[in-house]
Amino acid sequence: MDLTRRPRRLRRDGLRELVSETTVEARDLIAPVFVDATTDERRPIPSMPGHERVPVDEAVDRVNELLETGVESVILFGVPEDKDPEGTRAWAEDGVVQRATRRVSEATDATVITDVCMCEYTSHGHCGILEEGAREAPRMTVDDDATLGRIEEIAVSQAAAGADVVAPSGMIDGMVGGIRAGLDREGFEDVPVMSYAAKYESAFYGPFRDAADGAPAFGDRRHYQMDPANVREARREVALDVEQGADVLMVKPALPYLDVISEVRRTFDHPVAAYNVSGEYAMVHAAAEKGWLDLEATALESLTAIKRAGADLILTYFAEDVAARL
Ligand code: PBG
Repeated sequence: MDLTRRPRRLRRDGLRELVSETTVEARDLIAPVFVDATTDERRPIPSMPGHERVPVDEAVDRVNELLETGVESVILFGVPEDKDPEGTRAWAEDGVVQRATRRVSEATDATVITDVCMCEYTSHGHCGILEEGAREAPRMTVDDDATLGRIEEIAVSQAAAGADVVAPSGMIDGMVGGIRAGLDREGFEDVPVMSYAAKYESAFYGPFRDAADGAPAFGDRRHYQMDPANVREARREVALDVEQGADVLMVKPALPYLDVISEVRRTFDHPVAAYNVSGEYAMVHAAAEKGWLDLEATALESLTAIKRAGADLILTYFAEDVAARL
């Protein structure tokens, strides 16, 4: 055996850090914040320990808590006062996310990203306007063409409220191009689009759907979100968003899709974001509660792996806890 080569030489304390290839930094993390128009006090989210829905009046306080840990960016999700089939509260000037965005961008230095989607606002819980007969027929559920104009309006209303970045998550074909055109037309040429470019139809979104009250009332999202079996298709999906002017490319979920992150990293030059989703977070917490996993070590290792796979930024519910310890 050739023992002139001993990789362990570089694993000594002091050297390990010097040759480390990947670092997780607070400024790379984006913390999700749920703003709820139906409550005037903070409501814990049972399946996401440590997270709460906050009323609009407390959005600034919540963001300041995050900033104190070193996190610099937040993504806002909204729970509206009421829902209808068209999701009209999604683009209202006095909508929950628009109000929170206005306050947070005025009162703090946080980078405010807004999620552009309709599922939290539609009474049926789907990410757009439904096709005729969708309720009965187990085929396409969302009408892309009818939805596009709405998606554009949502993004413009959020930019007008002060969003620094808009992040469309509905997997509506053409959404990035539509939003880009709308933003440019309304004078928001400088607002980037962070596209949920490769978003899979994933069972890992469960806790989020409780948190944001956005579970589909019937059917599922497999006719618009991607099939977990596909990675070559992700390349095509992401290429379309690049053509349409996406500035940041997101892969979601993160841990079960590290191969997709690395594929997107290799294929495109754009910044790559990964969404370490609610189920990934809940899973670690549940195991830690049972004493089966070390919460802090598992969280940091998860984020390190996501960066190593090629993500530049990570949306994660661990943001404040990990940032506070870095
Ligand atoms: C929907 C949206 C989802 C998430 C963010 N925006 C989920 C879905 O399709 O239900 C999931 C985030 C998470 O699970 O943490 N537009």
